Amino acid sequence: MAAILPTFDMLLFGGTGDLVTRKLLPALYRRYADGQVSEESRIYGIARSMLTRAEYIAQAEAGCREFLGPECNAQAWSNFSRLLDYSRIDAGSPADYAVLAAALAERADIVRVFFLSTASTLFATIAGNLAAAGMVTAASRIVLEKPLGNDVASAELINHQVGMVFSEGQIYRIDHYLGKEAVQNLMAVRFGNALFEPLWRRGMIKHVQITVAEELGVERRGEFYDNTGALRDMVQNHLLQLLCIMAMEPPASRDPDAVRDEKLKVLRALRPLHARDVLTKTVRGQYRAGSVHGVAVPGYLDESDIAPDSTTETFVALKVEIDTWRWAGVPFYLRTGKRLQDRLTELVVTFDDVPHPIFEKPPPSEAANLLVIRLQPDESITLTILAKNPGEGMRLKPVNLALDLGETFKTRSLDAYERLLMDTVKGNLTLFMRRDELDAAWRWIDPIITGWHEYDDKPKSYIAGSWGPSASSALIGRDGFEWHDEL
Ligand code: BG6
Repeated sequence: MAAILPTFDMLLFGGTGDLVTRKLLPALYRRYADGQVSEESRIYGIARSMLTRAEYIAQAEAGCREFLGPECNAQAWSNFSRLLDYSRIDAGSPADYAVLAAALAERADIVRVFFLSTASTLFATIAGNLAAAGMVTAASRIVLEKPLGNDVASAELINHQVGMVFSEGQIYRIDHYLGKEAVQNLMAVRFGNALFEPLWRRGMIKHVQITVAEELGVERRGEFYDNTGALRDMVQNHLLQLLCIMAMEPPASRDPDAVRDEKLKVLRALRPLHARDVLTKTVRGQYRAGSVHGVAVPGYLDESDIAPDSTTETFVALKVEIDTWRWAGVPFYLRTGKRLQDRLTELVVTFDDVPHPIFEKPPPSEAANLLVIRLQPDESITLTILAKNPGEGMRLKPVNLALDLGETFKTRSLDAYERLLMDTVKGNLTLFMRRDELDAAWRWIDPIITGWHEYDDKPKSYIAGSWGPSASSALIGRDGFEWHDEL
C-alpha cells in the first residue's frame, strides 16, 4: 500500500470528456483503492452539461467499469464516489465559477489541483476566470494537457497568459509518456548501470529507432485529430520526449530542473528540418480501409468528423540528427501511426559491427548487436548478441538475452496518470515539461509543417493493419537500414 497523501481538491475541467472518463477517474479510483487518497479529498468533474451529482457519478462509474473491468469493486467504488462531485461551468463564463469558488473557500489552505483536460485554446480563459473568482491559492497547481498550442506562437501566448496567473513552479505541462513505468525504467537502465554509458555514443551505436505504433484509429476524437495530425499529436511531445531520454547527457541529480535542463539541450541540438528536407527526411501517411488483426476497419476519410478531402497525416516517419559530440553521425529514426499492424512502443539501439571480422560473416540482417527496449504492450529489455551456432565450423547466430519486466517483478505497474496525478498533489515537477522545453519542441516541429505546405507534400496512403506507407521503409532504406519489424 502506498503512503497516504495530504488532503486535496482536484478539479477536472473537461469532466465529461474522453480523458477524464477513460484515464483520470479510473486512475484516481485506483490510487484511492490503494489507500493513497484521504477520505477528506474531493474530486470535481467540471463541464458544461446539465448534470446532477448523482448523474455524474453514474457516468463516472460506467467509465471505470468499462476501463477497469472487475478491478472496479462495488464497495470500494461506493466509498470512492463519496469524494466525487460535479459542477456545471461554461469555461468562458466568469459568473459560472462562483458556486464552486464558494464551495472551495473553506478549504483554501489545502492542495488544489486544476486539471485542464480541454482544448488548449481554453487554457488562458480558464486560468483568468479562476483568478477572477479568487480560486487560485498559494497551494494551487494547474495541469495542462497536451498538445499545448498548435505552433510556437500559440504555445507562447498560452504560456504567457497562464503565466500571469500561475508561477512556473505551479504549472504542470503533462506528457503522459513521461509517467509510464517503462519510460522511468529507461532512465533506470541508462543511469543506474555503468555498463551502457561507454557504449551510448557515436562510434559504438550505428542508429536508433523509436516506434510508437497504435492499432487504434481516431476513435471518438475525429474533430480534434483532423485539426491536429500525428506530428502534433504524438511527435511534438511523446516521441521527442522519448528521444530526449534516450539521448540526454546524464543529469547531475534527479532534481526536476537537472533532468529538464538535459532534455532541453537535446531539443536545442536537433538539426532543423528546413524546407526541402521534408521530402527526404520525413514521410507522411494516411490510412485507407483495411483490417487490423482480422477485423475490417474503415479508412481515415470515412471516420466520423473527418473532412472528406482531409490531408491530415495519421502516420509520420522522420530521420532526426542530433548535432552534439555524442551523437554526430548517428541517425535517429522516429515513426508513429494509427491503425498499424500492432500496438507497439519500442526503442531499438543498433550497435556497430566488429571492426575486424574473424568469423564467417552472418547475413547483414543477423549481423548486429541490438538492444531492444520495449515499453508497450509488454515491458521488456532484450539484448541480441552473436553466439556460436552449435555443430561444426564457426558460424555465428544471433541469440537473445531477454528480460521480461512484468514476469520479473510480478506486480502491476502504475498507469501513467496514476503516477502523474499523485505527483501534482505531491508537488513533484520532474515528469512534467518546462516552458522552455515545450518551446524548443515546437521550434523544431514548426518548420516541418511549413515545409509540408511549401512542397505540397500530401500524405501517402497505407492500408490499415500494415506498418505504414512503403516510403517509410524507403526512408530508412536509403541509409542501408531497416525497421526492426522488417528484419
Ligand atoms: C495521446 C494521443 O496523447 O496518446 C492519442 O493524443 C494516442 O492519439 C495516445 O492514442 C497514446 O497513448 P498510449 O498511452 O495509449 O500509448
